[in-house]
Amino acid sequence: MTAQLVLPIRVQGLEKSYKNLKVLRGVDFEVQPGSIFALLGSNGAGKTTLVKILATLLRADSGSASVNGFDVATQAKNVRESISLTGQFTAVDDILTGRENLVMVAKLRHVPNPQEIADQMLDRFGLTEAGARRAATYSGGMRRRLDVAMSLIGSPSVVFLDEPTTGLDPEGRQEVWETVKELARRGTTVLLTTQYLDEAEELADRIAILHEGRIIVNGTLGELQELLGPPKVEYVEVKPTLEDVYFAVVGRVGGAGKTVPGQNADPAGAGLTSADLASADLRSADVTGADLTSKEQ
Ligand SMILES: Nc1ncnc2c1ncn2[C@@H]1O[C@H](COP(=O)(O)OP(=O)(O)O)[C@@H](O)[C@H]1O
Ligand SMILES: [Mg+2]
Repeated sequence: MTAQLVLPIRVQGLEKSYKNLKVLRGVDFEVQPGSIFALLGSNGAGKTTLVKILATLLRADSGSASVNGFDVATQAKNVRESISLTGQFTAVDDILTGRENLVMVAKLRHVPNPQEIADQMLDRFGLTEAGARRAATYSGGMRRRLDVAMSLIGSPSVVFLDEPTTGLDPEGRQEVWETVKELARRGTTVLLTTQYLDEAEELADRIAILHEGRIIVNGTLGELQELLGPPKVEYVEVKPTLEDVYFAVVGRVGGAGKTVPGQNADPAGAGLTSADLASADLRSADVTGADLTSKEQ
């Protein structure tokens, strides 16, 4: 066997079924260090299933996957120490303030100075002013940012974001996008799942499309566009998109540092959270698919 480069994420021939439902039918891909990899797929394509396997919360039926060179099935503890997971539903506790949420996670992760880390995270994610407010009062974008901040405590080198912008309003989406870009700028490897084509286009260094249990294409945006042949020159009337109009009218929100007051658009659900990873003694061998279903609407 040749010596293998240690990649942040490596997936080979992964298969997973729930009873008769074959969800993953042999998934292969690799993610390069410090890059943003988008796993694109429609509802039910198997994105969450794949992320759960990589995060050691679910066992594959066959194939293999490693994170930072650690096998997800046999070295789950090492994997969990190098990752964070932000699930499809936020892990934010509404009753606590933003700051208290951060302190709680920092304590669960046994970082030496929870208060200080909480303040640093509030600052980094533009939540200092909101830090003393209950999370219940946050907008959807603020909650997501807090959720991502919580998942980053302990400085994981690989971050999984499962549909980070589903259910967010346009401002919230922009805020999360800025946060994800900032993560990659700092050298964190990001695997995000999305069902939004524009999100993959905006954020990802590489895009893989998961369809009927397999990765059917995997490449840069440019490579994917080349699949349809050389660009054609056409004369068309270019109208602004609704998004252009929206932001022109309401004023564009850019950067994680700005906050948008508003409604709380993102109800907390029963999803898997970074706190689960930190607190629960989850041995992958004990975990079955049935335990871990996060039902989506
Ligand atoms: N624990 C489970 N038991 C049975 N079926 C499941 C379970 N979890 C997910 N599924 C089914 O597997 C398929 C893939 O689900 P999922 O990985 O959540 O897809 P995605 O995240 O891409 O929407 C769906 O058809 C879903 O209903
Ligand atoms: Mg999902």
